[in-house]
Amino acid sequence: MSAHGDPIPMTARRAGPLMGVAEVPGDKSISHRALILGALSVGETRVTGLLEGQDVLDTGKAMRAFGAEVTRTGAGAWTVHGVGVGGFAEPADVIDCGNSGTGVRLIMGAMATSPISATFTGDASLRARPMNRVTDPLRLFGAEAHGRAGGRLPLTLKGAVTPVPVRYTVPVPSAQVKSAVLLAGLNAPGETVVIETEATRDHTERMLAGFGAGIGAEDTPEGRVITLTGQPELQPQEIVVPRDPSSAAFPVAAALIVEGSDVLVPNIGLNPTRAGLFTTLCEMGADLVFENERVEGGEPVADLRARFSALAGIEVPPGRAPSMIDEYPILAAVAACAEGKTVMRGIAELRVKESDRIDAMARGLEACGVTVEEEKDTLIVHGMGPGGVPGGATCASRLDHRIAMSFLCLGLAARKPVTVDDGGPIATSFPVFEPLMQGLGADIARAEA
Ligand code: S3P
Repeated sequence: MSAHGDPIPMTARRAGPLMGVAEVPGDKSISHRALILGALSVGETRVTGLLEGQDVLDTGKAMRAFGAEVTRTGAGAWTVHGVGVGGFAEPADVIDCGNSGTGVRLIMGAMATSPISATFTGDASLRARPMNRVTDPLRLFGAEAHGRAGGRLPLTLKGAVTPVPVRYTVPVPSAQVKSAVLLAGLNAPGETVVIETEATRDHTERMLAGFGAGIGAEDTPEGRVITLTGQPELQPQEIVVPRDPSSAAFPVAAALIVEGSDVLVPNIGLNPTRAGLFTTLCEMGADLVFENERVEGGEPVADLRARFSALAGIEVPPGRAPSMIDEYPILAAVAACAEGKTVMRGIAELRVKESDRIDAMARGLEACGVTVEEEKDTLIVHGMGPGGVPGGATCASRLDHRIAMSFLCLGLAARKPVTVDDGGPIATSFPVFEPLMQGLGADIARAEA
């Protein structure tokens, strides 16, 4: 089932080369944060380039429920009239975050130190995901959480009436957990300290600094120590959201595996905490060129040109996982078209994403005739070389946008068409995926259910 309706089966077929310019949408991580931080500022934050995917729209709706005024003024252009740190009102109804782990976890953090209660839920995928990783540290601030077994949604969070600051070492590499703690720390007096032993995406830190919070980070033998001074008055901002490297990954990957392709993806965010896939692809022999490298709105940005390449499998360094955590599904699809073995270790976190992504990719690749090996935190793909993947299968997308897009990209290079049982979830992060890929010459079409 699609997140918001009947399943939408989609089929990708091998056709001519992919050519042209791929204008991918705004960054999902930054879009969520723009709405949440806008809601926590006093005055009007203006955002352009916002990702208008369902995940972010659900966060916008939630910010309204907490009292902010969130208005769409044009395509990707939004304003947020914030209520200030500690100014959230108690929502009158359940907050439905749809498919979005980032949405629900960051919003729980943002409300955990205000004297209000809220009940959170989401779709079947989100209701199966662990929330203890966020509610555990939020309890240290004085919040109370009551969820289903394993802390799963639906879950009611009662914010701390007299919050205390927290010093917390994040036990799994997770930007969502780090961000939830930092957002909770905003309304606690004194200094909240978050320590991460593996660096994850740092958009929250960069954006909090941009909104005027006192925040600093230091690399120590203990890990990265991030210190936030509580109870700032956040200043509204003008935010230009860069294009999402995690979405760019799909047309880039497709260009690399479809013979003769040449695709330009302009203006993509290349924050080093997000760019691991591109490093990996270059190591595999990808013809990727970064043009016009620059800094926009505090984030490194470039235009990325990708051309069809003969790729070789590699062993991806496990330490790189946090910087490409969302890109393993598409890497697995690319690896199937490379010569030799691609080994992806240290990726246990993939099991608790929108789906169990190790299992989803392994089963789908097998169905397409690719040999894989799977362990608890490892996926090994035996590449079949350019044009070597048989395809001719239907793969389950499991309410997971990135699984759906990965198999559709694979179908563009496989010998026989590849169908995904439901392309509906793609709308959560990349609502224009279908027309954008078709515009490059891809044969992707909706199939009969
Ligand atoms: C995100 C963090 C990552 C990532 C997700 C977006 C964020 O999740 O997978 O798509 O915006 O903070 P984890 O924090 O669970 O690793």
